[in-house]
Amino acid sequence: MNIKIKKILLKKKKSKIVCLTSYSKSIAKILDNYCDLVLVGDSMANVLYGFKNTHKITLTNVIEHAISVKKGLKKTLLVVDMPKGSYNNISIAKKNAKLIINKTRCDAVKIESNKKNYDIIKNLVKNKIPVIGHIGYTPQFTKKFKVEGSTLIEAKRLLNEAQLIEQAGAFSIVLECIHPDTSKLITSKLRIPTIGIGSSIYCDGQILVTDDMLGLSGFYPKFVKKYVNLNRIIDKAVKKYTRDVKLRKFPTINNFLNGTKRRQKNRN
Ligand code: KIV
Repeated sequence: MNIKIKKILLKKKKSKIVCLTSYSKSIAKILDNYCDLVLVGDSMANVLYGFKNTHKITLTNVIEHAISVKKGLKKTLLVVDMPKGSYNNISIAKKNAKLIINKTRCDAVKIESNKKNYDIIKNLVKNKIPVIGHIGYTPQFTKKFKVEGSTLIEAKRLLNEAQLIEQAGAFSIVLECIHPDTSKLITSKLRIPTIGIGSSIYCDGQILVTDDMLGLSGFYPKFVKKYVNLNRIIDKAVKKYTRDVKLRKFPTINNFLNGTKRRQKNRN
């Protein structure tokens, strides 16, 4: 088994699994110092491409971003989201998952549950493709962004879904927007680790969209903790740059000469 996956499995009930998303090498390089898992999520649809939902993200999109992210990672497990429509049946899923793994050299793929794609997970795992499942709010299949698992019936349904994904061979499962009691129940019943987003403290790990926690995306649901307001910081920097250019404070003759010297040195 992939040693990075083994490490994640061993964390269950011992220490929290730290996960974040990335779409580029520069962010991945920073995350690599801290995270156990980095996800190239199809949330890039909203965050980077300005789409209303994740449905238009293509295989090419995720592959190109994952190639960039991989360049920034030395030790962290890399997981790539399979976009909507890329795993409609077993043979399509196998072909596309292999393409993602071969092109990006990622460690695993993530598949959202539509409550019936357990055979697809089983087949990928049989073909030595590690899979993470994803239940609760699943943007590829659910229209409404709401807390799931608030009633006993829903809790039982979600637990059953999670258990079927575990039985299919997934090595972990994302719980998105699931009621704390239900997250607690699922986490206690599964042998594989759960990774929460908007699903309380009870999960084995936590993931957020990095651009949300950095205050860059403009999307801040209640469960997101904003650790910094990068929008404000970048705004200040761009304002300063604009003023410098207009007042002819930048570039100076030194900026030009230093830049030329550095570029020549890099070429030699
Ligand atoms: O696409 C994504 O970023 C995700 C996370 C929110 C779990 O699926």
